[in-house]
Amino acid sequence: MIEVGDGEEDTFLTIARQFSVIMAKKHYGRTEIVRDEASPGCFYAVRHWSSASAAEACHADPEIHALTDRLYEFARVTHIVNGVRRADPLRLLLDDRRARVEADRRSGFDRRVRETGRTEGERRKVDRRLGPRRMRGRTGELDLVAAARRARENADARFSKFKVGAALEAADGTVITGCNIENATYGLTICAERVAMFKAISEGHRVFTKIAIVADTETLTPPCGACRQILWEFAGNLEIVLANLTSEQATHRLKTLLPLPFDARLL
Ligand code: THU
Repeated sequence: MIEVGDGEEDTFLTIARQFSVIMAKKHYGRTEIVRDEASPGCFYAVRHWSSASAAEACHADPEIHALTDRLYEFARVTHIVNGVRRADPLRLLLDDRRARVEADRRSGFDRRVRETGRTEGERRKVDRRLGPRRMRGRTGELDLVAAARRARENADARFSKFKVGAALEAADGTVITGCNIENATYGLTICAERVAMFKAISEGHRVFTKIAIVADTETLTPPCGACRQILWEFAGNLEIVLANLTSEQATHRLKTLLPLPFDARLL
């Protein structure tokens, strides 16, 4: 799923065209762009690979990297389907917005495992969504920051006294929060961001759009290196909103905070 900013549609379509020319020329497969009529600026890029090795070769192709780097400069890219499932563009177009999520609940998958596919089938039969409340409509940045501020109150930072809160937005609008929880061994301390992400994964979420991180510091607190790695593996090029307890706020993309990431594709 690609969400482009106002006025960037033409640039996106040009890049998409160049992408599909390379795909065809190098026999990687073909691409299909589906515009989401319900959400302006939202597209689905469906890739039909000729084979698993063609997909691998394409992922390693510097020409493709150059194009995706340009894309990341102005678009938010969320990986939804990777390989196993025949995308049904009609369903993507006609279903409600959860279709974007349900198509594959394992985004981040290409960063964490090498083989494609789930052996036991394509999706679980019953969708039991316990735990966090799904917010109606799309959450605004303020909601997410407010949720992170509230989560921060639960931090157990008895050793450092440095309380952090995080609020992670899943693609269906669910907000999952976390706070740092410290340990007497110090080393077993876990950061707010990882608590939020692991809670989300354990609740069945697989596609994420944004995370807000809040600490009581004048200079905004960015995620630590370990959290950047975890966020990258599970959420890809996530939007990261940093905030404090007053009005200070800044937005980053994970790719810029972790410019040369290591993940399972390199194993
Ligand atoms: N911490 C977080 O929870 N997130 C960050 O992004 C930075 C650091 C926590 C870990 C530890 O409990 C405390 O802040 C001081 O490092």
